[in-house]
Amino acid sequence: MTEPLANLDGQILPLSQVKIPATDRGFLFGDAIYEVLRVYQGKPWLEEEHFQRLHSSLKAIRISGVDVDRLRERMHLTLRQSGHQEALIYMQITRGSAPRSHAFPENSKPLEFLYVQPYRDYPASMREEGARALLQPDIRWGRCDIKSTNLLGNVLAMQAAKEAGCVEAILYLPDGTLTEASHSSLFGVDEKGRLWTTPNNPDILPGITRLLVLRLADKLKIPVHEHSLNRSQLSAIPELFITGTGAEVMPIVQVDQQKIGTGKPGPVTIRLRLAYQEAVQEFLAGQP
Ligand code: PDD
Repeated sequence: MTEPLANLDGQILPLSQVKIPATDRGFLFGDAIYEVLRVYQGKPWLEEEHFQRLHSSLKAIRISGVDVDRLRERMHLTLRQSGHQEALIYMQITRGSAPRSHAFPENSKPLEFLYVQPYRDYPASMREEGARALLQPDIRWGRCDIKSTNLLGNVLAMQAAKEAGCVEAILYLPDGTLTEASHSSLFGVDEKGRLWTTPNNPDILPGITRLLVLRLADKLKIPVHEHSLNRSQLSAIPELFITGTGAEVMPIVQVDQQKIGTGKPGPVTIRLRLAYQEAVQEFLAGQP
């Protein structure tokens, strides 16, 4: 695997050579936000949407002084120089470096960091045959709509899933409401063929892939019910899937010991997975 190429405050260098001060607030407090973009054939996918969300995250935690257009140019430059075609771009902005004290420092300068790494996809069989997920309590904070680097709740849930041999952890609130997964959005399809997904609210990240899937559902005339599922519905729900920048549309065919539907990816999930792939192809065909 070729080494990821990074950009730190405008300087391009191999990721392994990046040095960030120990007093950086991202390191000390998780006082930072991030984005992850997928690159297909050298082209960043859904770039506009990712930068809009980045802008909203910055605003939500009141990091000011970031020139988002300049950041975008840096991202393109680093991507071109990396030569990576199938890649992931990780981008993080912290409030910068300052002596440790909880409240915002007076004059810290935001740190702007990104890197491009070759993408290693999930096995193709997983999208075709479906994957397993584990239920985990959602112990995260009250502003999961902000894409902040405070991810301990997500990390612990995903570690439990990994130890159980599962692709994801699906998170539930004390009343059984399913919010989303540790690093993906969650969808279900009911017996009437209606698509369910948690409405955008502070309990979930407004997923970019989620947004695309809702647009595709509209195009395919699949009815949408923006409402969260409850864990009590899992025994009867015919289809379940997760979405994310890397996962794309990933069927979930088992949760804990519960088989979902027939135990195979369902027809609506398959249609949306194929529509997703077509959307990527259309995007690539339209690129210079
Ligand atoms: N995760 N929900 C959570 C909690 C996430 O962290 C993510 C993305 C998603 C899906 O969002 P999108 O479709 O915009 O990728 C939903 C990224 C990829 C990560 O943390 O690596």
